[in-house]
Amino acid sequence: MIVTIDGPAGSGKSTTARAAADRLGFVYLDTGAMYRAIALAFIRRDAEGTPDEARAILPDVRVDIRYRDNDMRVVLDGEDVSGTIRTAEVGNMASQISALQSVREKLLDTQRRVGREQAEKHGGVVLDGRDTGTVVFPDADVKIFMVADARERARRRLEEYQKQGEDVTFESVLREIEERDEADRTREIAPLKRADDAVELDTTSRSIDEQVGFVVNCVKAEL
Ligand code: C5P
Repeated sequence: MIVTIDGPAGSGKSTTARAAADRLGFVYLDTGAMYRAIALAFIRRDAEGTPDEARAILPDVRVDIRYRDNDMRVVLDGEDVSGTIRTAEVGNMASQISALQSVREKLLDTQRRVGREQAEKHGGVVLDGRDTGTVVFPDADVKIFMVADARERARRRLEEYQKQGEDVTFESVLREIEERDEADRTREIAPLKRADDAVELDTTSRSIDEQVGFVVNCVKAEL
């Protein structure tokens, strides 16, 4: 079974997808982590994220997904960067380079291959991202589109950054989230949008447990 969860930054996708996968005995595939890994490769080469740079950089970059006890790790050129990619700087670069066709093409095959392999091995996979229900798996069995009020999403992101010791303010996180959503929604290739057959879940005033329960119930209804 293929389950997709798409939505804007901070809507609760990754926490919910991970927990729902756990509860169902499925595995979790975070497609944003793959864009972040490529973004890190750009940052490490002091690149700004232009199409010309992408042409030069992408052939030398390798992004792999590995599972350790069902825990997804993202590997950049042989190095596990799962922790390193969780910064605002990498997120902003990911947003920029994810609009490039060459970057999306590079990751699409891996997302489909890993998704299918893991679904076969474990009975199901839960993907999260922006286009997993529209482009990566348009025939997914269950599609969820998560939304939440921007201020609530900024509050959640701020908490995550503070836990990692990043020095950011609520206003800067809110601005970052709004800019990122606008860029993700309005880009030409694979923009963030709800698939026609996706169920919308507003998480603004829902607990994580409720969100996970909602996804698990949607999946069980299809089993
Ligand atoms: O979800 P996360 O914040 O880790 O994603 C980082 C960026 O990667 C997003 O802002 C978005 O621009 C991009 N992305 C994407 N398509 C996906 C997942 C993420 O374009 N399926």
